[in-house]
Parts: sequence; structure tokens; C-alpha cells
Amino acid sequence: EQIPVELHKVRMVQKLFLKPIEERKAAMEEAGFNTFLLSTKDVFLDMLTDSGTNAMSDNQISSMLQADDAYAGSQSFYRMEKALREVFGKHYVLPAHQGRAAENIVSQAFIKKGEVIPMNYHFTTTKEHMELNGGKVLEIYADDALQIKSDKPFKGNIDIDKLKDVFSTYGKEKVAFVRMEASTNLIGGQPFSMQNMRDVKKICEENETMMVLDASLIGENAWFIKQREEEFKNAEIKDILLEMCSYADLVYFSSRKVSSTRGGGIVTNSKDLYMKMRDLLVLYEGFLTYGGMSVREIEAMAVGLNETCDETVISQSPSFIAYAVNELDAAGVPVITPPGALGCHIDAMGFLPHVPQTDYPAGALATALFIISGIRGMERGTISSVRDENGDDIPADVELLRLAFPRRVFTLSQTKFVIDRVKWLYENRELVGGLEWVEEPPLLRFFMGRLKAK
Ligand code: F0G
Repeated sequence: EQIPVELHKVRMVQKLFLKPIEERKAAMEEAGFNTFLLSTKDVFLDMLTDSGTNAMSDNQISSMLQADDAYAGSQSFYRMEKALREVFGKHYVLPAHQGRAAENIVSQAFIKKGEVIPMNYHFTTTKEHMELNGGKVLEIYADDALQIKSDKPFKGNIDIDKLKDVFSTYGKEKVAFVRMEASTNLIGGQPFSMQNMRDVKKICEENETMMVLDASLIGENAWFIKQREEEFKNAEIKDILLEMCSYADLVYFSSRKVSSTRGGGIVTNSKDLYMKMRDLLVLYEGFLTYGGMSVREIEAMAVGLNETCDETVISQSPSFIAYAVNELDAAGVPVITPPGALGCHIDAMGFLPHVPQTDYPAGALATALFIISGIRGMERGTISSVRDENGDDIPADVELLRLAFPRRVFTLSQTKFVIDRVKWLYENRELVGGLEWVEEPPLLRFFMGRLKAK
């Protein structure tokens, strides 16, 4: 048994509450069977997301106290700019209030109606922004990338033949840019390899097309490159990060994930690309030296970026995830393997074979796990998908319950509690039934939608 060890000590804590099951059931009914609508007062272990919930370090918290409040020209911004230049190797910095704000700017600046955007896989807000600007998302992962049980180390790779086909089918003038998402979120936090980035870059260059990197989970992807790609087994994380970013013409990120608990941004070495985004940024996000963030957040982001180069920081979440995934897998619970970044991803269709996909098994599983344990996960399946032009559900490629492991938040005994409760639910899976809509918002329905037991 490989036991992960916390490479930090706990110096500030927050009390948790484990309420009786009847209260959790009532809370779930109140929340419309949607874990997004729960109140944290009813939640025991909050594994909804790592976004904005990673633990901050003592150095981050102390940096926040020396923040320089100014609308323009704040020293806090220059410290963050310096960190981004060093860690991502990009000169021009556009700060944004979070990742989707960066997606808005990038999509408005670089996508024209009728263009396509090939990528390893979409993210919910990414796809919405691209489509709002008239673009079409093309997912060109390998044929076996969505296989739940697998030993492929880099399921987040772009399939190179499919990328070539995109250029020959649409012509390079119709390809807005190629997007690669580090630790591909919706397919189970699966990384891509450095070799794949090099191959994608080569094709982008041949076709004079921009390559865009979503670096929200770049630290973990760099960690997996070090673990799983022979060439990098002795490399320093900072060099891996720099090489990854060097292939991208433009890098954007949610720093709610990558480095701290708030913020985001866009970086590039091209003055031309920078100028295409600069004025939009001022319009949507705020002046160039704060971009919708508070100066305290900017300071924490700068320190956090440097900590992303520290193996004892970025190995934490993947090692706890690997422990949970391996234990559940050994017990026969269907989970995505190999273990990835962000969280433990349970295959809801394998877990609940009696619940048809039209009854939203991942949503049903998220609901049931909360009721029996107080653990809040996130549905990443058809509820998080959309309807087609005829109003029919587009079934998600994979129907997942994601249990996020925010960096350095949960202990090993809490992780064991999670494993124990998931196993119990698996043994008692026939108790779980499907869901149906009560209130379905037209846009990003998974956030605010309400459902009921079918
Ligand atoms: N890109 C990726 C790969 C993400 O995972 C996220 C957010 C975003 C962009 C958007 O960033 O939230 O700062 O606006 N993922 C969160 C999650 C919400 O829970 O997986 P944001």
C-alpha cells in the first residue's frame, strides 16, 4: 500500500460539522438535488472543486499584508508580472478576475463566426464563450482517451492525425487556434505529454496557426510529465513548466486553480496578440494593473506561482488522488484510471448500471453520496452538457462524479473516510434512483438548475 504523506504542517484550521443524515436529506431536497445549491453549513467534506479552495501557504498569507492598493501602477501587479515572466516565460501580462474572464477576452479577440477550434477536450465555460462568439469546438482526443479503466499515461493528448485532418477539412484560415488544456478537466484530470505538445506545435507552425494553452492545471500536468515521461524523470518542474509554455503563443489560466484562490490571466510574448486583447481587458475586467482582482489576491497569486515550481506543493493533490483511486479500484468501484489531477473521478454509469443515462446517473450519484456521508462532489456528466437544436439532451461522453482534492486541504484520515463511504454506497448501489428536471436554465444549466428524484 502506497500511503501519501502530507509534506506540510497544519497551522490554521477550520471546524467542520457532520450533521445527521435526516438533515442532509432535507438539505439536498432544499438544494434541488444539485450539489452546487448546497450551503457549506450542511457539508462535511467539500469536494465540489479545487477552484478557489486550495490551501494557501504561510508565505502567501503574509504577502497579502504588504499589498499596494492603487488603481494604476500597483507594486503588487509588478510583483505578479515578474512571477509570470519567470514561471511561464511570457513577457506581456493581462490580469483577469478569473479563468472564464480570460476565456471571454481570448474568444472575443480571436474567434470569428464559422471558425473551428480543435482541442484535446472542452471545458464548460470555455465552450460557452467560444460558441457565443460563433466558433465551433472540435474535440480531437485519441479513440481510447475516454476509456474509464486504462493504463495510458497521457489520455489528455491531442490525436495528431485528427489534427491534420482538421486542417485539411476546414483549411487553416478557418481554424481560429488550437487549444490544449493541461490536466484535461472533464475527462478525469488527464495530462498530455511534452512530446504531444511538440507534435501539435509543429503542425500549428506548418499551418501558421496560433497555439493556446489553458494552464489552469499546469502544475499537476508538469508533475505527471516528470513521473510518466522518461525524458523528464530528472528534470526540474520549473524547466518543464517553461518548456510547456514555450510551445504556446498564448497562455491563459484560472489562478483559482493554478496558484492561489482567486484571479486569472493571459500571457504572451507577442506584442501583436497583446494589443488585440488589451483594450477588451480594460473594458471587461478593469485597468491593466488589477484586472478585476484585489491587490491582496494579486500578491498571493505571485507567491503561489513560484510555489507551483515546488514539487512538495504540486505532488500533494495527485498523490492523495492516486491513493483514493487505487483503493477504490482495488475494491471494484469503477473509477477513472490512471489517476489524474484535480480529483477522483467515479464512473457513474458503471456504478449505477440500473440508472439510464437519460436519468442522469452522475447527478444521482452526487446526490446519494452527499446524503449518506456529507461529502459534496460535482456532477460531470449529462447535466453539465447541453441540449441540441431540437431540445434533446446531448448525452455526455463520460458520466462522472468528481470528488475534488483541493491542494493540501484534506488529511489522510479524511481521505480514508471518503473511500469507506464510496465503497459502502457501491455495495448498496441499488438504493440509488435517477433524477429529472424541475427547473432547467438555458445556459450552463448545471450551476443553478433544480431536479427531483424520478
Ligand atoms: N479552464 C479550466 C481547465 C478549468 O478547469 C476552469 C475552471 C476554467 C478554465 C474556468 O476558470 O472558474 O476561474 O472561471 N474550473 C473549475 C472546476 C470551475 O471546478 O473545475 P474560472
